[in-house]
Amino acid sequence: MAFSNSERRWVFPLAMASLMFIFLIAASFNMGLLSSVRSINSLIFSSNLPSTNETTVSFVESKTNNHSSPPPHVQSSPRFGYLVSGSKGDLESLWRVLRALYHPRNQYVVHLDLESPAEERIELAKRVREDPVFNDVGNVHMITKANLVTYRGPTMVANTLHACAILLKKSKDWDWFINLSASDYPLVTQDDLIHTFTGLDRNLNFIDYTSKLGWKAETSKASDHRPGLYSTKKADVFWVTPRRTMPTAFKLFTGSAWMILSRSFVEYCIWGWDNLPRTLLMYYTNFLSTPEGYFQTVICNTPEYSSTVVNHDLHYISWDRPPKQHPRTLNISDTERMIASGAVFARKFKHNDLALDKIDIELLGRGSGDFTPGGWCADKRKCSKVGDPSKINPGPGANRLQELVSRLVSTSKVDQRKCR
Ligand SMILES: *[C@@H]1O[C@H](CO)[C@@H](O)[C@H](O)[C@H]1NC(C)=O
Ligand SMILES: *[C@@H]1O[C@H](CO)[C@@H](O)[C@H](O)[C@H]1NC(C)=O
Ligand SMILES: *[C@@H]1O[C@H](CO)[C@@H](O)[C@H](O)[C@H]1NC(C)=O
Ligand SMILES: *[C@@H]1O[C@H](CO)[C@@H](O)[C@H](O)[C@H]1NC(C)=O
Repeated sequence: MAFSNSERRWVFPLAMASLMFIFLIAASFNMGLLSSVRSINSLIFSSNLPSTNETTVSFVESKTNNHSSPPPHVQSSPRFGYLVSGSKGDLESLWRVLRALYHPRNQYVVHLDLESPAEERIELAKRVREDPVFNDVGNVHMITKANLVTYRGPTMVANTLHACAILLKKSKDWDWFINLSASDYPLVTQDDLIHTFTGLDRNLNFIDYTSKLGWKAETSKASDHRPGLYSTKKADVFWVTPRRTMPTAFKLFTGSAWMILSRSFVEYCIWGWDNLPRTLLMYYTNFLSTPEGYFQTVICNTPEYSSTVVNHDLHYISWDRPPKQHPRTLNISDTERMIASGAVFARKFKHNDLALDKIDIELLGRGSGDFTPGGWCADKRKCSKVGDPSKINPGPGANRLQELVSRLVSTSKVDQRKCR
């Protein structure tokens, strides 16, 4: 049967909408959110078909809301949950970052997306499986079902939330979530980071945010049918007026794609699905093409959490000259500025750039291919055996970081007026 032209026009959007729907369902299953059928919330899933009504999709959510575990061990050293993701050709970089970041107290999720060839993913899985230290401690997990991540789309957010859900499932203990890409690199040891964060309020979130969407404000092609998304003229501040699911409008934020999120905020994003995080994910999936803004928009529109934001991503990133859309690739001539910044991480680097060797030697004390040494190493040099993971030996990096963090935290209250 042949389609007439006008019929063809809607066949494609219909197919896309169906695919999106299947994706959302699949993502929810992946996240393990559908474990019990208790309450059914309806979620508007607006397709951009010209003449059909909105399709109302029933969503089932988990009621195992037992996430309100008491804040763990306020006095003890914190733990971090990392997501390190890469794409095609990133295997070796990812492996290097993972070893530079490794600490037996932390949890790690590694992910190579579908763009990377199967051999790379198989090789990574093999290395993770066969590493004696990873094996011994059991804190490195690989997402084996690779997702196709597009760097300008909701799949990025879904992928991040998926990793958060895995980390929540794997460990009750971590305090902060950090997502990194294979082209990031640490500038301090994990002992430095753990030491510095020991003194911090475990509810703090390091998120670089702004309500000036600027060049990022282009909206998706579905704009004709999106709910009221409007700009308040000069300020470039965008608001969304939902049709019916939300009682009030929310303001859109964007900012850096690098962040350090508190466990409680991550739990809110994963479990607080009946309200803002879910609604916003739906909006980001359908109407907005600013993936970086998801966590910024959630946190700045949630009063309980907006008072926990420190407006900085603790990364050293050097942007290209205007239009400042892309981070410059750092090289050996950037090392001094990088170190002086006191940041935890820097980006981005070419694979095995000389600057990385310099960081290994001067900042991490790490031998090529080895783990970054720390108090946990049973054999001082190579760290091929795990000693006492609770022994933390901070170095000079801890002082630089401490200075930066105290400065940021002390000014964060003033800054937070913009996160509203
Ligand atoms: C949309 O839904 C309304 C009420 O459910 C119905 O009366 C109307 O015919 C529908 N429109 C289309 C185009 O299906
Ligand atoms: C939730 O936790 C409480 C107290 O810890 C417990 O009594 C209850 O059975 C738990 N509920 C579920 C669904 O696990
Ligand atoms: C971290 O997660 C956010 C939200 O999904 C995403 O936009 C960002 O690109 C991620 N950053 C990295 C380094 O993967
Ligand atoms: C480092 O990068 C800068 C700016 O991109 C460039 O001018 C410089 O030549 C590079 N240095 C080296 C050693 O590659």
